[in-house]
Amino acid sequence: MHRLIKSGAVSVNGITTKDRGFCIDPETAEIKINGQAVSLEKYVYIMLNKPEGVVSATKDPTEKTVVDLVPAELKKKNLFPAGRLDRNTTGFVLITDNGDFAHKILSPKNHIEKTYEARLAERIDEESLKKVAEGITLGDGTECLPAKVKVLEDGENPLIEIKICEGKYHQIKRMFAAVGNAVIELKRVKMGELPLDESLAPGECKILSKEEVELINK
Ligand code: URA
Repeated sequence: MHRLIKSGAVSVNGITTKDRGFCIDPETAEIKINGQAVSLEKYVYIMLNKPEGVVSATKDPTEKTVVDLVPAELKKKNLFPAGRLDRNTTGFVLITDNGDFAHKILSPKNHIEKTYEARLAERIDEESLKKVAEGITLGDGTECLPAKVKVLEDGENPLIEIKICEGKYHQIKRMFAAVGNAVIELKRVKMGELPLDESLAPGECKILSKEEVELINK
């Protein structure tokens, strides 16, 4: 960094400085290296609107991963998805380099709700919704914690909002399978209190502000 400053590559709030002792306000300073904005934050938190057909992994020998979708200017070392969505599930994936934060928001003990919208193959009755809400036992005997469910659209292929604090393998698909239904489309629309930014097209990312990151942790 010292060499970069000396070479005149670094600007602070639009002013190039060669002074290594230059004081900045880390909360507000806009730092650029060769015209490219850089962050002073220790960790980065990226919201991705995951499209279908992409795997929730950092690297894969054959498949495109959610980390592959992070554009070069946002890329940092050690990025990984905090929690997995199935290949055909869409919506909010948090990509970060902060392992402690990921662990905190994923642990069921911390009761951070993940909100999904599930389109079902069949009509669903009150009794089935109640079973899902009360904490259903999956086909293999795995017990789920209670979930919050709400019918967003009724009919042949209802749309159900479902909030869970766990992340068992194919959990939502298996919860509805346990009441004889099937999920035909699944989208994660919220993590904690932070909704997916619907202005992000599928495959697009944005860096989250401190305030947005705090909303996940609520
Ligand atoms: N539950 C599922 O079944 N799939 C997901 O991708 C996420 C939650």
